[in-house]
Amino acid sequence: MDEAVLDVIRNIQDLPTLPSVAMEVMTLAKAPDVSIREISECIYRDPPLATKVLRVANSTFYRRGSQEIETLHRAILMMGLGEVIGITTSVSVLSLLGARDSRGASMRASFWNHCVATGLIARRIDRKLGMKSQGRDFVGGLLHDIGKIILDGYFHDRFEQACELSSRRRCPLHLAEQEVLGTTHMEVGHYLTRKWNLPPYLVDITLHHHHPDKAQFRDLTALVSMADLLAKARDLSCCGDTPPFVLKDQEAWETLVKLGYPMDGLDVERITFEIEDIAQEVEAYITTASEAAPEAAHG
Ligand SMILES: [Fe+2]
Ligand SMILES: [Fe+2]
Repeated sequence: MDEAVLDVIRNIQDLPTLPSVAMEVMTLAKAPDVSIREISECIYRDPPLATKVLRVANSTFYRRGSQEIETLHRAILMMGLGEVIGITTSVSVLSLLGARDSRGASMRASFWNHCVATGLIARRIDRKLGMKSQGRDFVGGLLHDIGKIILDGYFHDRFEQACELSSRRRCPLHLAEQEVLGTTHMEVGHYLTRKWNLPPYLVDITLHHHHPDKAQFRDLTALVSMADLLAKARDLSCCGDTPPFVLKDQEAWETLVKLGYPMDGLDVERITFEIEDIAQEVEAYITTASEAAPEAAHG
């Protein structure tokens, strides 16, 4: 990374920090013997967060059957710890970095649309391939491009130049960023996710999602990378990053083939058709995860 840019990032006093409860949940989740009770009690210490997590857990994205999930304890039992931690992370990041923020509204809107679309598509592919990523697919998709938010916020003019260059040349944005800024959204995202003490798989995805074969968590990173490409194919890209591509020639696809996933059974045309309505789903997810809590949750 360009030392001058890294220095500026290191010295940004108001670099966003995740709410303490979200950080604590992430730390707790790393412990091998953590109990459901410890996790749910931790989330309940932030009542608006707990309410939002329950609202998302009861939304059409997760809910199975007609019975309402009324407590976090029950949510963890029914959905699994991974999914609930995934929802907690996504709700915290969306509130922190403002999917509904009016500053830089159009960049932020297209940024979050792209990231939520990537998360939702990653979940679908995860199920098709039987990967059982337990919520890490969605959160990985949601956060893969998080470095762009920092570049846009603190190096706005140069970041815009990079976006413009990427769309003019029809080249990947990170190549244009390297040329204009001397760094990329992957390096900046890597710095931020480490600073936030996020789990290693997220640190890995932010750094390697454009070259998943280099990742430590290769299957998850390749999954997110493929979802990222499919989101772009459905016009849910952001920041001018729309190079043409053939999915089966991409490193993400090749990596998943190498890892032994049944890619032959994956019908690209069918997936593309199935995600036709992804834009409405994205809107519904952001609304559900961002709405202010009407009242504190209990239990
Ligand atoms: Fe990216
Ligand atoms: Fe992306």
